[in-house]
Amino acid sequence: MTRAEEAKARHHQLATQLRQHDHAYYVMARPSISDPEYDRLYRELLDLEKEFPELVTPDSPSQRVGGEPLKNFKQVRHLMPMMSLDNTYSQQEVRDFVTRVQKIVPNEKLEWSVEPKVDGVAMNLRYENGFLTVAATRGDGTTGDDITSNLKTIRSVPLKFHDLAGTHSNRSAKHAESDLFGSEKQAATRVPTLLEVRGEVFMTLAGFKKMNEARVAEGEEIFANPRNAAAGSLKQLDPRLAARRPLDAIFYGVGRVEDGDVPQTHEEWLELLSALGFKTPEWFRVCDSTDALIAAIDELDKVRRSFKYETDGAVIKLNNFPLREKVGYTSKAPRWAMAYKYAAEQAQTKLHNITVQVGRTGALTPVAELEPVFLAGSTIARATLHNEDEIKRKDIRIGDTVVIEKAGEVIPAVISVVLEKRPATAQPFDFFQHVHGKCPVCGGMIRRDPEFVVWRCENIACPAQVTRHIEYFAARAALDIESIGGVVADKVVERGLVRDPLDLFSLTVEQLATLNLGTTDAPRIFGEKNATKAVQAIERAKTFPLSRWLFALAIPEVGKTTAADVAKFHDDLTEAAQSPLLADVVAYHDAREKKLKPEAEAIAERLVASGFAHRSKRKNEKDEGIVTEVGPVVAQSILEYFAADAGKKVLQRLDELGIHPKGEKSAKKDLGAQPFAGKTFVLTGTLPTLSRDDAGAKIQALGGHVSSSVSKNTSYVLAGAEAGSKLEKAEALGVKVIDEADFLKMCEV
Ligand code: IVH
Repeated sequence: MTRAEEAKARHHQLATQLRQHDHAYYVMARPSISDPEYDRLYRELLDLEKEFPELVTPDSPSQRVGGEPLKNFKQVRHLMPMMSLDNTYSQQEVRDFVTRVQKIVPNEKLEWSVEPKVDGVAMNLRYENGFLTVAATRGDGTTGDDITSNLKTIRSVPLKFHDLAGTHSNRSAKHAESDLFGSEKQAATRVPTLLEVRGEVFMTLAGFKKMNEARVAEGEEIFANPRNAAAGSLKQLDPRLAARRPLDAIFYGVGRVEDGDVPQTHEEWLELLSALGFKTPEWFRVCDSTDALIAAIDELDKVRRSFKYETDGAVIKLNNFPLREKVGYTSKAPRWAMAYKYAAEQAQTKLHNITVQVGRTGALTPVAELEPVFLAGSTIARATLHNEDEIKRKDIRIGDTVVIEKAGEVIPAVISVVLEKRPATAQPFDFFQHVHGKCPVCGGMIRRDPEFVVWRCENIACPAQVTRHIEYFAARAALDIESIGGVVADKVVERGLVRDPLDLFSLTVEQLATLNLGTTDAPRIFGEKNATKAVQAIERAKTFPLSRWLFALAIPEVGKTTAADVAKFHDDLTEAAQSPLLADVVAYHDAREKKLKPEAEAIAERLVASGFAHRSKRKNEKDEGIVTEVGPVVAQSILEYFAADAGKKVLQRLDELGIHPKGEKSAKKDLGAQPFAGKTFVLTGTLPTLSRDDAGAKIQALGGHVSSSVSKNTSYVLAGAEAGSKLEKAEALGVKVIDEADFLKMCEV
């Protein structure tokens, strides 16, 4: 064999192995190899492709994240239109639907499939001779956006059909045996030469949550729900950005089919798709009566919240394909299918009153005070009314019976009024009049920018705002002044002892001891013992490090993680306030945006040299870009905070109070080596000598990170006695597990 022939054979072997490992990991959720081992195979494949570029085929595992950003999406025509589904919220209408279909084919025995309606973005994937050639969004049903590059980044999507002789079905063994494509018969199956596979791209709930948290930390706008997030991700013109989003896909149908031995039922189609390497619905029923169908719909409702993605209904389809054709289509939707949508959980209750809350930013929010009612697992006595315009639009009046709704994790909201139940005494609500044109807390001026829907209290010294600020300042994650919780904060502000958080440092034991936390009739005096404790806690806060202080100041966009990241690179507040690093981050993104490449590169160089950024080095990525410790929005926000008068005053007061929080930079310098830089640890179980906090502190001091959950990116799991599921997960993922002795050895540098 020549060297080139050898390389070709090895490349084929590697590509096949990587494909199988991807399938095991992303489709079956059953990893079959450790991360380093996978990386080794992948690197070998890349090396071969570098030496022999002709080996780079579109289905190579290296081609998942490739290509340059697009200018716009090309339009693609679907080979068969993508129709929509009729839908209903009523089980009676489901029964009527069955009757209707039966009337069209009176002599046929009907079998119905039921599966989840995935709340994602509809997708059409074209496979030619087994290779993914085009992927497109639904668009107007006839023509959609060509999002092939973005779709390829979804690792559970096969770039090429799996060999049918293999045993890759992710459906149950019971199914596999009984169907046409069971193991013995698979070898004989001829797969269509052209196949449009249809399904839904979604963002997992966990991925969505994590991504939004990261976006909050970076000061970026968050997505309203996983579906928007998935749609937004697919609209990225740069596939490298799409690759970073936690997307996944489920397939439930086909469009154009050419040649091949094809199944006659939906159930068998799902089997075939699964055998070809696709992820198919994890819950699926075939029902032979209307009652069974309704029961399946109810059963799905009970389990659907445990799925990794959001579902908003059940899709009912005729199982038999030839029958489907007999039943036919309207211009928009098949007559043989229907979506049953589950209602968000709702309840009716009486609206006793509307109160107005003032938030930390001064926003005035109308809140419905309700007759308590049980809904989706908890008793609800208050629900948001959002804002003045929403109250008007829904014509909500005090005394009305209202419908409230709780969807997922969100705060309960008032949806509508039950007009039939409106009493004659119901009072229309006028926001401005209701609060007498003033802030309900401080009586200050309120203003509503005509562009926005929110009324705001204009008084920055408004006690409602000040109280919230103080609570935030004293919270455990900030300066941990335990005794200054809600009521005490309220009282010190009410008594005029504290006007802003830094006033806490002037409080005396005497002032606090006499505070009445109760009422005049039922007094509850704070007392000397508590007061002394509080003053000690306040004193202790003076010694807290920069990271805590940066967080406590409630600088917009600065969360706990950001504060810690910034603190690592600055000696003190004064340095952070005028940080050249932060200024560089802003300038770098500016230059990138303006396409000033040399300027951007010069700044990038500086940032990388300082350690505040690193080169993005994702697999197979040629981007010359950098990843900075904090994003430009955060950087800008910090600089603006300290440049403004209020921020300058804070710095001056801290100086006067003798508070000079130290950054973690000096500590870092002293240590010299950072052996754990870039390493992520997960702690589990009880260690023989170290407490978790101690172990965590050591890891951080040596430059590492501590994470609470095990993933592919975990470097080490430090396990002690009675380690549980994290240890199992580490073993499953092939993450290195160490004990305390190993750990202590690693710390000795
Ligand atoms: S079948 C001709 N099955 O719902 C019917 N659709 O409201 C083709 N959807 O455009 C659709 N889960 O985006 C089907 N299991 C499922 C589905 C599903 C979600 C979406 C799909 C469709 C929309 C119709």
